[in-house]
Amino acid sequence: MGETRRIAVLGSTGSIGRQALEVIAAFPDRFQVVALACHRSADQVVAQSRRFRPGLVAVVDPAAAERAAEELNGTGVDVASGPEGLLRCAALAEADVVLAAMTGIAGLPAVWEAVRAGKTVALANKEPLVVAGHLIMPEAKRAGARLVPVDSEHSAIFQLLLGQDRAAVTRVVLTASGGAFRELPAEALETVTPAQALAHPTWQMGPKVTVDSATLMNKGLEIIEAHWLFGLRPDQIEVILHPESIVHSLVEFGDGSVLAQLANPDMRLPIQFALSYPERLPRPEPPVDLARLGALNFAPLSATRWPCVRLAREALAAGGTAPAVLNAADEVAVSWFLEGRIRFTEIPGIIERALARHAARPADSIEALLAVDAEVRESLSREGAQCIQR
Ligand SMILES: NC(=O)c1ccc[n+]([C@@H]2O[C@H](COP(=O)([O-])OP(=O)(O)OC[C@H]3O[C@@H](n4cnc5c(N)ncnc54)[C@H](OP(=O)(O)O)[C@@H]3O)[C@@H](O)[C@H]2O)c1
Repeated sequence: MGETRRIAVLGSTGSIGRQALEVIAAFPDRFQVVALACHRSADQVVAQSRRFRPGLVAVVDPAAAERAAEELNGTGVDVASGPEGLLRCAALAEADVVLAAMTGIAGLPAVWEAVRAGKTVALANKEPLVVAGHLIMPEAKRAGARLVPVDSEHSAIFQLLLGQDRAAVTRVVLTASGGAFRELPAEALETVTPAQALAHPTWQMGPKVTVDSATLMNKGLEIIEAHWLFGLRPDQIEVILHPESIVHSLVEFGDGSVLAQLANPDMRLPIQFALSYPERLPRPEPPVDLARLGALNFAPLSATRWPCVRLAREALAAGGTAPAVLNAADEVAVSWFLEGRIRFTEIPGIIERALARHAARPADSIEALLAVDAEVRESLSREGAQCIQR
């Protein structure tokens, strides 16, 4: 019997956060929730707090925090408000593991805080690493923090590399389900709706990452994430289509051996592994049944159909502030699409124009990167006003 891990769940009301709480609830002797954090889902975080009894809850939106504080009055749960509350959870002395499951760049200050505090960070929130990997990775080394990926592809690579000679790795291959529109003819993408984009064939996820899966920007972000997590050159990171989402990634070694990690498409497995690492705890669900599946399919990725992967590679090659521009423009474009303001096919163009307008420069602080993020949003909101008038 191992020790009890004390866990801060940041983004506890989202898709990853809720699944993490399911995993935690399944191992009451091994995991204990010490903090929960969300943006504004007060009712949900109150219900979670009543069940898991954390010492600290952070609700970023002040009005929602006030409601949560009233509901939890007298329960012994401390409710913090604003972005500072999230930072308190990220650096909480009582937390052994910080699960970062916020969405978007909004998670960057908290991930940075957790890394600086030397925590084990179970990282689902990929955007902070995409934008600030060049600062986060050296800081993690300095502070003794450990990043354990939750993203299924990166969890696969992390698992495949355990006990291996890193210098012998020649290539990794990330698999892509192809998202909601993988079967659709390219012409039909013009008229797809947000509801169609949100109906992912193999994964149930939050709205931003689901739309990113449909544009394949998610895979672009994952290429950048893999670059930072595993110290790989961009040309060592490839993507192939794999509609079943059973093989989560492959690692190729210099002797020609290729290792793959297989599991059913269920995020609770990589979440659990990240929380229990290096130990493997049992899971009640049956493992992959290859005989029942019969076949697994793979296909090359069409660069013309999915320009977002190229844009992500270009931003990674440009370095400095370019990934921050890529990410901010993507967040804005996805939100506009979800609001019905632009067509699905306009998303890559918005990102490409934002990158073209920006001269990438070195960025040596989190504040500088957040300033670039704000600049891009500001300039896009001016462009957006013109979009609506169209
Ligand atoms: N879902 C998946 O299967 C999956 C798989 C791989 C990777 N990921 C990555 O994991 C991250 C989370 O994805 P998700 O699908 O779980 O997203 P989600 O369902 O949209 O949940 C997002 C969570 O973050 C919180 N949040 C949003 N903005 C915040 C802010 N400004 N400050 C503090 N908290 C904030 C939300 O709180 P409220 O509820 O209060 O808004 C919610 O708890 C993303 O980076 C995604 O790319 C997800």
